[in-house]
Amino acid sequence: MSQTPAVLDYFTEYQASVADPDAFWLAQSKRVAWYKEPTQGSSLDKEGLYRWFADGELNTAYLALDAQIDAGRGEQLALIYDSPVTGSVNRFTYLELRDATARVAGVLRGLGVGKGDRVVIYMPMVPETVMAMLACARLGAVHSVVFGGFAAHELAVRIDDAEPTVVISASCGIEVNRVIEYKPILDAALSEAHHKPAATLILQRPQAVAQMQIGRDLDWDEALSMAEPTEPVPVKATDPLYVLYTSGTTGKPKGVVRDNGGHAVAMHYSMEVVYGMTPGEVFWAASDVGWVVGHSYIVYAPLIFGCTTVLYEGKPVKTPDAGAFWRVVADHKVAALFTAPTAFRAVRKEDPEAALMAQYDTSSLQKLFLAGERLDPPTYDWLVEKTGLPVLDHWWQTETGWAIACNPVGIEQMPVKAGSATLPTPGFQVEILDVYGDPSGANQQGAVAIRLPMPPGCLPTIWRDSDRFISGYLAQYPGYYLSGDGGYRDEEGYLFVMGRLDDVINVAGHRLSTGEMEEIVAAHPAVAECAVFGVQDELKGELPLAMVVLKDGFVGDEDALKAELVAAVRQQIGALACFNQSLIVERLPKTRSGKILRKTLRQMVNGEALQVPSTIDDPAILEEIHQRLTDG
Ligand code: COA
Ligand code: AMP
Repeated sequence: MSQTPAVLDYFTEYQASVADPDAFWLAQSKRVAWYKEPTQGSSLDKEGLYRWFADGELNTAYLALDAQIDAGRGEQLALIYDSPVTGSVNRFTYLELRDATARVAGVLRGLGVGKGDRVVIYMPMVPETVMAMLACARLGAVHSVVFGGFAAHELAVRIDDAEPTVVISASCGIEVNRVIEYKPILDAALSEAHHKPAATLILQRPQAVAQMQIGRDLDWDEALSMAEPTEPVPVKATDPLYVLYTSGTTGKPKGVVRDNGGHAVAMHYSMEVVYGMTPGEVFWAASDVGWVVGHSYIVYAPLIFGCTTVLYEGKPVKTPDAGAFWRVVADHKVAALFTAPTAFRAVRKEDPEAALMAQYDTSSLQKLFLAGERLDPPTYDWLVEKTGLPVLDHWWQTETGWAIACNPVGIEQMPVKAGSATLPTPGFQVEILDVYGDPSGANQQGAVAIRLPMPPGCLPTIWRDSDRFISGYLAQYPGYYLSGDGGYRDEEGYLFVMGRLDDVINVAGHRLSTGEMEEIVAAHPAVAECAVFGVQDELKGELPLAMVVLKDGFVGDEDALKAELVAAVRQQIGALACFNQSLIVERLPKTRSGKILRKTLRQMVNGEALQVPSTIDDPAILEEIHQRLTDG
């Protein structure tokens, strides 16, 4: 690994990244260790999709662990596990984490997992989850982590798409003070899924004992006690490191593929440029390993960069109170904290004066990073006022894996404009496109797109479905990747991302498909048709609302029906969907071609100015619904 190339100022760096992207990223690639250094920057694969560093070979777990030990960090803390829900704190040095990971890799190899095989990980926020992910990477296997809040059906869908050799899970997760048993969910998912993995590996936690199925389920501790450590396996830069499913506009989630080489280079670069970190410092992403933030900034980037990462099994509030974040910062000398705005809205609601912050020594904290949803100006202002720290919004998505726009503090801290994610990150050529696909002028709203090729780290494709990648992201405006978000850039180029243009909503920083909820609601025998869309919520940003038309002749109790709809969504997607509201209406507004006017409904419920398309079939329906809403 070579020394940091000198970075000058943001605009010089940005220009270098777009003037000659291959030269720029090949220079960055020299900062991580390869078995075979790449000589190629970007290239097109057989399907005509961009790939990075096609002739390079490396191992991501080696970079995250062994290379750090080789660089003298063996005794430095790699991972701090802080779990207020179990009352425990565990610390792992790089040596300890490497050795544990190598043994988990040994277990997986013994179960037949090799290069390219998939492993589904359905786990709570425990260190074993990090070890499992890194163990897959060590073997060149492909992990697919499923967020622990998803219900059995969602897990089954992912198991069928990923076709794992092994599924790793635990007996339970803990939600504040509720023990959520995972094993019955896993069992239900495995019986629903068509694909049957060869084995499961189950971590028994003291809070719940999982019933094991002999011949299929293996005990984590027992398996590890017999395992031999395994060495890292070299893989191609373009080989997949993981598949992470994210919500699209249909019920079928999209398997976002992350490669090894581009990802490693992007993670390393981002720790320095986006987060302004120095190796050895403590970085805390208060998210969940089931989301992309957890993949990139709890696990891979901090370790690849030689930082100490914090794995927090708790909530911003109630574990035990709204001082939890400040307590963790103080206990572990956190230098930078990254979370979703909704987490701080929850803290502000319970502790508006931030009185609990004063109880802790938070002097180690230098910067706050926010992403996952729009950072609303009131939350921004509150954070600035209460912490006095730089509060830095940045915009990205599961697909890109790292920030598309940020305040590049590692190069040059730009003035903040509340509500803006600041400027495009070096490597990302962001354009606002109008309906014809032409770049829009300053302050004109449009579709936020990224000119191809995107920089390293971004998805090369959708798992086993390149057609979906092309039709969903690339086909609409040739030469661009369409983010799905709408927004504008001001006269200084600052980017304001205003929200999704498709049927995806953002609930407490979790990305959910309203189309999927519609499928579940519409499947109820009493429902003729429905529309699900997001309504504004002070705490969670958005919450789903269903407008439901009942079949003629329905005679049951409407409240009981609504409760059944809530139960169906909880059972099939999970409680995290926060689906609790439905409104029964006579008719839904549609265009003359029969398309439901969800956007108009959303505007009406949110009290926004109505944009009614001229193609509306019967405008009287809007008045009926407005009346229904007014009546409560
Ligand atoms: N396993 C099982 N259930 C889970 C879960 C998990 N990992 N995560 C959430 N749930 C459940 C909750 O228990 C809750 O269930 P309930 O309806 O039965 O009470 C439901 O899903 C909704 O949970 P949540 O969105 O966490 O709501 P909350 O009211 O408990 O907490 C916040 C509100 C703001 C504190 C919380 O949403 C939060 O911490 N958000 C930050 C999100 C985040 O980090 N996003 C990552 C993107 S960076
Ligand atoms: P996810 O893929 O779950 O990370 O969700 C990505 C989506 O969250 C984006 O497409 C945006 O709609 C939204 N998002 C993430 N970060 C921001 C941000 N800083 N500002 C506005 N929206 C954001």
